[in-house]
Amino acid sequence: MAAFARLGFLDYRCLPLLLSLLIVFVHGDDINSHEIVTEIDDQVTDDDNCNLFQGSWVFYNSSSNPLYDSSCPFIGGGFDCQKNGRPDNDYLNYRWQPNGCELPRFNGTDFLERYRNKKILFVGDSLSNNMWRSLICILYAATPSQNYTFGAQKLLSTFSLPDYGVSVNWLKNGFLVDLAYERIGKVLKLDSISSGKLWLGADVLIFNSFHWWTHTGRLQTWDYFRYGSMTVKEMDHMEAYKIAMTTWGNWVDKNIDPSKTRVFFQGIAAVHLNAKEWNDTDHRDCRQQTEPLMGSTYPGPAVPGEAILKSVISNMTKPAYLLDITLLTQLRKDGHPSIYAGGGPKFNDCSHWCLAGVPDTWNQLLYAILLQN
Ligand SMILES: *[C@@H]1O[C@H](CO)[C@@H](O)[C@H](O)[C@H]1NC(C)=O
Ligand SMILES: *[C@@H]1O[C@H](CO)[C@@H](O)[C@H](O)[C@H]1NC(C)=O
Ligand SMILES: *[C@@H]1O[C@H](CO)[C@@H](O)[C@H](O)[C@H]1NC(C)=O
Ligand SMILES: *[C@@H]1O[C@H](CO)[C@@H](O)[C@H](O)[C@H]1NC(C)=O
Ligand SMILES: *[C@@H]1O[C@H](CO)[C@@H](O)[C@H](O)[C@H]1NC(C)=O
Repeated sequence: MAAFARLGFLDYRCLPLLLSLLIVFVHGDDINSHEIVTEIDDQVTDDDNCNLFQGSWVFYNSSSNPLYDSSCPFIGGGFDCQKNGRPDNDYLNYRWQPNGCELPRFNGTDFLERYRNKKILFVGDSLSNNMWRSLICILYAATPSQNYTFGAQKLLSTFSLPDYGVSVNWLKNGFLVDLAYERIGKVLKLDSISSGKLWLGADVLIFNSFHWWTHTGRLQTWDYFRYGSMTVKEMDHMEAYKIAMTTWGNWVDKNIDPSKTRVFFQGIAAVHLNAKEWNDTDHRDCRQQTEPLMGSTYPGPAVPGEAILKSVISNMTKPAYLLDITLLTQLRKDGHPSIYAGGGPKFNDCSHWCLAGVPDTWNQLLYAILLQN
């Protein structure tokens, strides 16, 4: 808590009391108000009403926003919306306001001091890449010497700041369970994790897997599912996701010592492919969206994997901490690269996120949670 005082923030244990006098609580739909991570209640605040992931976006164009700009060399072409010609920039000026508590501002220097000589590893798909690039840009911007190493070989991308001995890496892995190349084709083995040895030794692990499970047709990157001795061409993809995430949860329970490694799961980020979901009849999707949805509820349907993921994590004996970003991303229809993903006006990306942008908030949440102990 001392860190907050230094930052000039009110101790956020007191804030719920103050805020409850000032704000009207808006509750999300049932899916979003399920709480499975009770740690939040114990550690962020004494007030049962505080959930870091329930809240709304507030316009906040401070001169210290955003935490980095296009001069960060690690943004990656597809996420650098300003460089790719995005004309509006209000999307850079919103902060996430949880209902009933306050998020500390990300202090990169403080993070680097606390994580001196530590290893942070993201494991997951391109949304992990999105969050990883955000974090390394934030940390790089906070390093006075700007001395770094950056590299990529096959599936592993590495970044380190030698001044602090901190490394922040990303291991590309869309399914977490194994994809085996066999004679019959590519087999997605729902009950097998053989690459887990690559995950050991990190101080902080941040997993993510969802979007690849939704793929069908040409985008689908497997030919068969295997579970036990059963090999099938097709099954319900969300059922497959549930089995695979359970395999992952069991792997974590068996192999990770929580006193040495903190395990997070980067929750499912929303896509904005259908403007009807937010009753916008003037647009088709995320294109030309320049404002978030206000308030704390998303009018569209729930993300199918969300309930599965929460159930899997709550059944773990040593539950991972779910960074439950679904609602806060659902509200940010304006946060995607859309046609400013660098592939020209015909290439439209309503799944990833501009950087700087919404993933900075995911890292701010990660920072807030890591500060708690
Ligand atoms: C950030 O953290 C560092 C190290 O703890 C501290 O010296 C500095 O004052 C903090 N910066 C702000 C803006 O609070
Ligand atoms: C914030 O927005 C207001 C109103 O749009 C504007 O007058 C002000 O200059 C902006 N401040 C910054 C730091 O961008
Ligand atoms: C950058 O880090 C390397 C390796 O630790 C060190 O040898 C070098 O002096 C550093 N450079 C600066 C400018 O700090
Ligand atoms: C969106 O439209 C649906 C169907 O017309 C309606 O039931 C719903 O209340 C609307 N939601 C919002 C947020 O306007
Ligand atoms: C979690 O455990 C409950 C109670 O045993 C069970 O009903 C539920 O199906 C489990 N969830 C998953 C995803 O296996």
